[in-house]
Amino acid sequence: MTTLIIGAHGQIGQLLIKTLVAEGETPRAMVRAEAQAQMVKDLGAEPVIADLEGDFQSALKGCDKVVFTAGSGAKTGPDKTILVDMWGAMKAVDAAKAAGVSQFVMVSSRGAEDPEAGPAKIKHYTVCKKLADDHLLRSGQPYTILRPGRLTNDAAEHKVTTQWPTEADNQWIPREDVALAIKHCLKTPATVGKVYPLFHGELSFREALS
Ligand SMILES: NC(=O)c1ccc[n+]([C@@H]2O[C@H](COP(=O)([O-])OP(=O)(O)OC[C@H]3O[C@@H](n4cnc5c(N)ncnc54)[C@H](OP(=O)(O)O)[C@@H]3O)[C@@H](O)[C@H]2O)c1
Repeated sequence: MTTLIIGAHGQIGQLLIKTLVAEGETPRAMVRAEAQAQMVKDLGAEPVIADLEGDFQSALKGCDKVVFTAGSGAKTGPDKTILVDMWGAMKAVDAAKAAGVSQFVMVSSRGAEDPEAGPAKIKHYTVCKKLADDHLLRSGQPYTILRPGRLTNDAAEHKVTTQWPTEADNQWIPREDVALAIKHCLKTPATVGKVYPLFHGELSFREALS
């Protein structure tokens, strides 16, 4: 199985490469620069240099699955949130469908289910994430959507929940657990066609994501 990771040089992306390599796989890692290509190669991935703002269809050639974990980040403006987090994700869905990919795993975000209900300061971001998710849901492309809470760099707990914690301060999850959840979804056909909120919790991946 060949999985393309879009956003492979990112924090979740690198953790996912390590997780899949530990399973004996060689994921394809989409990155934006030569130095990043060498870095993901050193982690055990097959690099491909491409940009979500350009034409990246060829990066999917021969791939069975796609994981979208790219993001423009907090240091760029709303223009990049539109071009990368929303439009880039929508283009990735279309590219996956054109390539006949069997599963598209979208790293979305808490709040994307209802941007109106969330804080105004992140509404632009959650609207973009929602529109990308909606595009995937309508596309006919087999999908799994993960909507993690606030990401932390804590070590994996290997315990998660899909139930929203009542306290906002408790709505977090380590990036490492998100990477493990993605791996679980890639290996578990029952997760196709599902949308999962994802927070740190008390359940195994198998119990929470079935
Ligand atoms: N931060 C949170 O609390 C939070 C909560 C829920 C969900 N999320 C979502 O989680 C995902 C990943 O999080 P993370 O912490 O791993 O993010 P990250 O470390 O910022 O990684 C994002 C990656 O996206 C890549 N990227 C940006 N623009 C691109 C483009 N035009 N073409 C190709 N790649 C591009 C970046 O490339 P470079 O390395 O070249 O910059 C980077 O490697 C994102 O989808 C984010 O929206 C975040």
